[in-house]
Amino acid sequence: MSEAKKLYIKTYGCQMNVYDSERMAEALGPNGYVTVDSPDEADMILLNTCHIREKAAEKVYSELGRLRGLKTKRPDLKIGVAGCVAQAEGAEIMLRQPMVDLVVGPQSYHRLPELEAKAGRGQKALDTDFPEEDKFAELAARPKAKRGPTAFLTVQEGCDKFCAFCVVPYTRGAEVSRPVDRVLTEARDLVSRGVREITLLGQNVNAYHGEGPDGRDWGLARLVYALAEIDGLARIRFTTSHPNDMDDALIAALGDCDKLMPYLHLPVQAGSDRILKRMNRSHTRDSYFRVVERIRAARPDIALSGDFIVGFPEETDADFAETMDLVRQVNYAACFSFKYSSRPGTPAAERGGQVDPEVASARLIELQTLLNAQQLAFMKGMVGREVGVLFEKAGRHPGQMVGKSDYLHAVHVTAEGLAPGTLARVRIIDAGANSLAGVLV
Ligand code: 5AD
Ligand code: SF4
Repeated sequence: MSEAKKLYIKTYGCQMNVYDSERMAEALGPNGYVTVDSPDEADMILLNTCHIREKAAEKVYSELGRLRGLKTKRPDLKIGVAGCVAQAEGAEIMLRQPMVDLVVGPQSYHRLPELEAKAGRGQKALDTDFPEEDKFAELAARPKAKRGPTAFLTVQEGCDKFCAFCVVPYTRGAEVSRPVDRVLTEARDLVSRGVREITLLGQNVNAYHGEGPDGRDWGLARLVYALAEIDGLARIRFTTSHPNDMDDALIAALGDCDKLMPYLHLPVQAGSDRILKRMNRSHTRDSYFRVVERIRAARPDIALSGDFIVGFPEETDADFAETMDLVRQVNYAACFSFKYSSRPGTPAAERGGQVDPEVASARLIELQTLLNAQQLAFMKGMVGREVGVLFEKAGRHPGQMVGKSDYLHAVHVTAEGLAPGTLARVRIIDAGANSLAGVLV
């Protein structure tokens, strides 16, 4: 038997890219590839890229610049670009960096075996189609290895919302939900390989409407209840949700379904109706407050997180003050905040009214100071409380294990005989800025 070829994948961006990278590695298995942790001895290097902000996209080109040296030394090395930059700028990448052998978009990576074979023959291979066939179904039959205690599972992909700043509807395409039986089969398979917590992924995960075994469309709540029936699966999460798609059934599930964890990522992006309208968010500040109220009525201890953009075109000091006010009223457990980045091809990129970058930077600092204070207060508030923790791996100190709380905090515990995959009750004794320390109850 010939020696296995080595594949190194570097993943940028969101959790869906993490999931996609695993699928790409599986897809290349039949071509004789095993994954390795370093680019140095790899026969093929794949960059799974992100296009959401300019900085993310630029990282790809600087990484390709670095890889050029490696390729000069080892001309047989194959270099591929996958993901959202590949989708948006595929042909341009090959022009700017002629040493790139292969470009594959997020909807065609099940065709990687053929693309890799083509690249192996010394031809350029490019595929950024939105094909008819279901990539997930094409990939389902590949052999799979044992897994750690947590896994991502994509149930929905793409977006029809067209927020004015966002590339996702163009790079990931229209909203598509996977059928219920396929999701359940994949989840059972993950559990049989050691997974105890599944995070359902979708750009608009709560808009999920997959075909059920009864021929009808099932919403996310119904899917969650069906997943909760799987023995051995202890925890379910889902991300990312849109405020307009938080229906009553899903809100009720947050209160009723024991396996559904009390953490919800619910981006609002901005706090001023004027800016929300210009962003084409199709919800208002008030409707967001009302959704949060309904969620907290169903699940009072829920940890809420969000995404924010500052410096969107035409954002004034008064608009920004409304964002700050919204954050104070909602009180978040964690948040991600960004300076607006103009993305080619999006509606907002065509507009005037760009905010002075220094003003935007100052707003970002002000917002992040408030968000960090809220996060720290939430973490300090955990001290003395008991929470469930799913242990994932050894910590840095001897005998220490690290896991995630129900609320998604990193938790350190020092205890004998705690294996990865153990779910235990932990009393929190200390809180830092990014993690908690606890003892087994
Ligand atoms: N500029 C800045 N932030 C953006 N996001 C999406 N597009 C942009 C952009 N053009 C942020 C949003 C989204 C998160 C994933 O990235 O907050 O929720
Ligand atoms: Fe982008 Fe808006 Fe769709 Fe989220 S809802 S992926 S921000 S267009």
